[in-house]
Amino acid sequence: MAQIAFWSNAHGQPGNTSNAAVIAALTGLEYDIRTLVTQTQFERSTLETLFTKSNELQLGGLRDISDIGLDALARLARANKLMPESVKNKSITLERNRLDLLVGTMKPYEGLYESLSEHVKPIFDIANNYYQSVIVDLHSGSKNPLTTALLNESDLVVVSLCQNRTLLDRFFSKEDWPAALYNKPVVLLIGQYDPYSKYTASNIQRLYKRSWDFKQPIYTIPYCSDFKDAMNDKDLMGWLRKNKNLSKKHPNHFFFQELRKAAKAILEEIGVNTQVKYIERGVS
Ligand SMILES: Nc1ncnc2c1ncn2[C@@H]1O[C@H](COP(=O)(O)OP(=O)(O)OP(=O)(O)O)[C@@H](O)[C@H]1O
Ligand SMILES: [Mg+2]
Repeated sequence: MAQIAFWSNAHGQPGNTSNAAVIAALTGLEYDIRTLVTQTQFERSTLETLFTKSNELQLGGLRDISDIGLDALARLARANKLMPESVKNKSITLERNRLDLLVGTMKPYEGLYESLSEHVKPIFDIANNYYQSVIVDLHSGSKNPLTTALLNESDLVVVSLCQNRTLLDRFFSKEDWPAALYNKPVVLLIGQYDPYSKYTASNIQRLYKRSWDFKQPIYTIPYCSDFKDAMNDKDLMGWLRKNKNLSKKHPNHFFFQELRKAAKAILEEIGVNTQVKYIERGVS
């Protein structure tokens, strides 16, 4: 139904992959909609590894993955054999009926990777017909051809920002904006957020309101050591399942509160009725 691109103008600091993964994971656990999460980076992405513990049975410990993922779909597209259920069939279930992971390309050469760009549109069209939300972790910047193609096709762009003044200046001056950003709904999300910095979300909004008067607040994914450990342990789903209903007094409560706010705003932006689709109420 709707494609959500997670994109950033910078490498690493905004936690773009982590943001996309945790928004997808929480949506899969708490909303009754079908979500797909995937990535289109050439250099080995970290997205899949964050979920390895949840899907290692299906992945056979990552030994034979030639018949799943984006590459398998590109092969079907080349042979004109893409079917409405192809994306679902080539994805891995993380939460039954609610969250699937589509493994990205394993192509070793950039030339082959570029040829994938041709097939991206039909593949994502099929994904969008089956899933209510398709979350794509894009390569940062605007030079990657798949990034450009997928930004153009997306219904919403979530821009991952960080509390770095130089990078913020660059983003809000629009100097390195891909063309697609000018005519799409955009949600701003600060990753690895430090609420004790002078550059809080509301101060950043105030600071740049002359260059861009956005209607929505800036959302955040707070810095959280346990979240980082869970990602390093490759068990994002397991950690979220165990920790999502923490009491207000728990130090990670803020992380979940901000994460839920961001997920809700993103889903509402693509037209999901979050009141109706919410299935598990956490402690808020
Ligand atoms: N909210 C967070 N709390 C703690 N650590 C985080 C958080 N978000 C990201 N990190 C850590 O920061 C590092 C970079 O994150 P990530 O890979 O998501 O960034 P990225 O913007 O996707 O990078 P790249 O541009 O290289 O793809 C990782 O080690 C990750 O575990
Ligand atoms: Mg990344």
